[in-house]
Amino acid sequence: MLLFPVILFPFLLLLLYFIVRPRPVNIPIKNRHVFITGGSSGIGLALAHQAASQGARVSLLARSLSKLEEAKQSIRLSSGVDVSIFAADVRDHDAVQKAINDAGPIDVLVVNQGVFVPQELEKQGLDEVKFMIDVNLMGSFNVIKAVLPLMKERKDRGPTSIALMSSQAGQVGVYGYTAYSASKFGLRGLAEALQQEVIADNIHVSLIFPPDTDTPGFEQESKVRPELTTILAGSSGSMKADEVAKKALDGIKSGSFIVPCNFEGQMLAIATAGLSPQRSFLMAFIEVAFIGIFRLVALFFQWNWYGSIEQWHAKKKEK
Ligand SMILES: NC(=O)c1ccc[n+]([C@@H]2O[C@H](COP(=O)([O-])OP(=O)(O)OC[C@H]3O[C@@H](n4cnc5c(N)ncnc54)[C@H](OP(=O)(O)O)[C@@H]3O)[C@@H](O)[C@H]2O)c1
Repeated sequence: MLLFPVILFPFLLLLLYFIVRPRPVNIPIKNRHVFITGGSSGIGLALAHQAASQGARVSLLARSLSKLEEAKQSIRLSSGVDVSIFAADVRDHDAVQKAINDAGPIDVLVVNQGVFVPQELEKQGLDEVKFMIDVNLMGSFNVIKAVLPLMKERKDRGPTSIALMSSQAGQVGVYGYTAYSASKFGLRGLAEALQQEVIADNIHVSLIFPPDTDTPGFEQESKVRPELTTILAGSSGSMKADEVAKKALDGIKSGSFIVPCNFEGQMLAIATAGLSPQRSFLMAFIEVAFIGIFRLVALFFQWNWYGSIEQWHAKKKEK
């Protein structure tokens, strides 16, 4: 009986070593141009600090020029690095194209801008739904379309990266996040298809899945969160922006397609691996070996969440 795993596991590891695609890659950051959208606040700003302190040339894009100037000043104070800043709205393709042309060829693009207004769909106006889809999803298309031609031309400069900031709400639908989840799930389709389209140009796509993260955007969001959203989203714990930025940058540098940020995120990544690319044969081994058990854990989560929803409605009826 014991002989079975002893023979099977090494064979499986060897098989996975040969079949995982795309092949492993390292994306250097030092002396390279890292362009971060939504880089004036929260996770984007933390990423900018870390990339600058690791020797990257950093550019930031966001709407508010004053917030960008504050960010530039804080990075100069902490690391002595002067970053370039560009004020543009990602919904405006022409403005984004101009900023990117001015910034010059990009080695690592982090598409991080995002807006989140949680509310039950029934109560949320379609203008707010469109706002989230436009900034989070269409805005990402605008940025990537503007960057791709120049990035493709940089074949002599080694591997380049396009990283997209999704969310755990882009791996699993959460109460109150119908529009936000839709915009973030959309990024997954974008990323999976794009990776196939750009692999021949040595461009490597990463998809980052942070849990709740302590940022100015999150602080605003928490004020309007439906109670049930807080109860359900709380199951993955919360992180500091610096911690998420470190996980994100490490994931980008190792060329990982899926980048989880905490233990629960790692479990979620395995449970939702599906047909996504996997470069690491060890991670592929864990996925193959544990997918069944993680599905069971996922079903327990659903059992718990639906239980909480039922209880919440029952309490509301009592009142
Ligand atoms: N914080 C969390 O709990 C959490 C969890 C999971 C995923 N995320 C994702 O992580 C990313 C960053 O979130 P955060 O919490 O760091 O947010 P944040 O503190 O609100 O920062 C958002 C950044 O995006 C910029 N931005 C917003 N709308 C824009 C637009 N239309 N065009 C250009 N830039 C725009 C903002 O600057 P301006 O307002 O000046 O434009 C700011 O720099 C988002 O994609 C978010 O969905 C966050």
